Amino acid sequence: MGQRPITFLRQVVALCTYPNLLDSPSFPEDAKKRARRILQGCGGNSLGAYTASQGINCIREDVASYIERRDGGVPADPDNIYLTTGASDGITSILKILVSGGGKSRTGVMIPIPQYPLYSALISELDAIQVNYYLDEENCWSLNVNELRRSLNEAKAYCNPKVLCIINPGNPTGQVQSRKCIEDVIHFAWEEKLFLLADEVYQDNVYSEGCQFHSFKKILYEMGPEYSNNVELASFHSTSKGYMGECGYRGGYMEVLNLHPDIKGQLVKLLSVRLCPPVSGQAAMDIVVNPPVPGEESYSQFIKEKESVLNNLAKKAKLAEDMFNKVPGVHCNPLQGALYAFPRIFMPSKAIEEAKAHKMAPDMFYCMKLLEETGICVVPGSGFGQREGTYHFRMTILPQIDKLKILLEKMKDFHIKFLEKYA
Ligand SMILES: Cc1ncc(COP(=O)(O)O)c(C=O)c1O
Repeated sequence: MGQRPITFLRQVVALCTYPNLLDSPSFPEDAKKRARRILQGCGGNSLGAYTASQGINCIREDVASYIERRDGGVPADPDNIYLTTGASDGITSILKILVSGGGKSRTGVMIPIPQYPLYSALISELDAIQVNYYLDEENCWSLNVNELRRSLNEAKAYCNPKVLCIINPGNPTGQVQSRKCIEDVIHFAWEEKLFLLADEVYQDNVYSEGCQFHSFKKILYEMGPEYSNNVELASFHSTSKGYMGECGYRGGYMEVLNLHPDIKGQLVKLLSVRLCPPVSGQAAMDIVVNPPVPGEESYSQFIKEKESVLNNLAKKAKLAEDMFNKVPGVHCNPLQGALYAFPRIFMPSKAIEEAKAHKMAPDMFYCMKLLEETGICVVPGSGFGQREGTYHFRMTILPQIDKLKILLEKMKDFHIKFLEKYA
């Protein structure tokens, strides 16, 4: 999509990968300092050696310091940090140790609808029970505790709901949860003894004024020891999103809280089966949590690059929202965060009938027509789940602004013609 890599991150990974470059005058001292530190944490001072299954110690320490800074001083213990192969790997490992039982006692996993399909796929792979709770589209895709309660109570009749997954900021829906909402969810999890799984990979991607990212960990602590000593929580972050977009490095971490020591033992055993996460990904994760600070040589370039990506994303989020809402028969909630628009499309009944005649979900039919007529590829809402009778699609806001404008214009023209054709 034309986004340039963050120079400092690539410099450190390059130095770690080929340490002869540590003698090169082309690299800044602060990048060399970080590379030396990472290499000292590696077996044989080399990225090519396996690391501890939980990840390199000094990087886990950096992750813990990052979390403490992010959460205004709430303590983080490196022993609770596990480096992972992207967030996906952490989510998989945690779900693996949580799923058990048979028949009505099989583990139920509550997931938002619409959801990021990793969750439904994993639940299916692990033979767990998917328990849907619906986000409230009329209220900017917010999460309502009454809906959580409805979903949990219904699920108790056929499974043992033990896990509650939250994606904040949301994919595909782009909402950023308010502090109050997070408190309500934590209280609910505490009451119902649910294991909270907080997917926070978009924590740097918050755009709307008045919206702020609050980590579940921070709010949990601020609610007091009754909560912070009891609620089991795993939260996830990644190198894939934010301003970095380094998804190919497969870097990530998870922080776990209130896990019984025996369960932690099982977790480490499980993680050791895959030996260790990619070491270059661990190094990339280190730079995300330990970037240049004011006074360091690379700081000004780093902050310029970071802000340029995030400011552009914020502009594109607003542009997409405004453009979609000008199209008749389309409604788009504000893109408060993450990297996607998820507009609702109101489809004429003739189009729905034709889709059915083609044995296609109506929004799939719409997306295929869009692809055939414009070359633009978006994902039908049915791929993420949506309320019965509603239709959506998801598209990313990653293209460069000029291209995004052209793309949105084309989509508008397509939609108007589509409405005319099936009126
Ligand atoms: C909500 C959410 N969680 C997890 C992931 C997976 O991230 P990773 O590349 O770190 O495995 C994604 C990727 O799109 C995502 O949107």
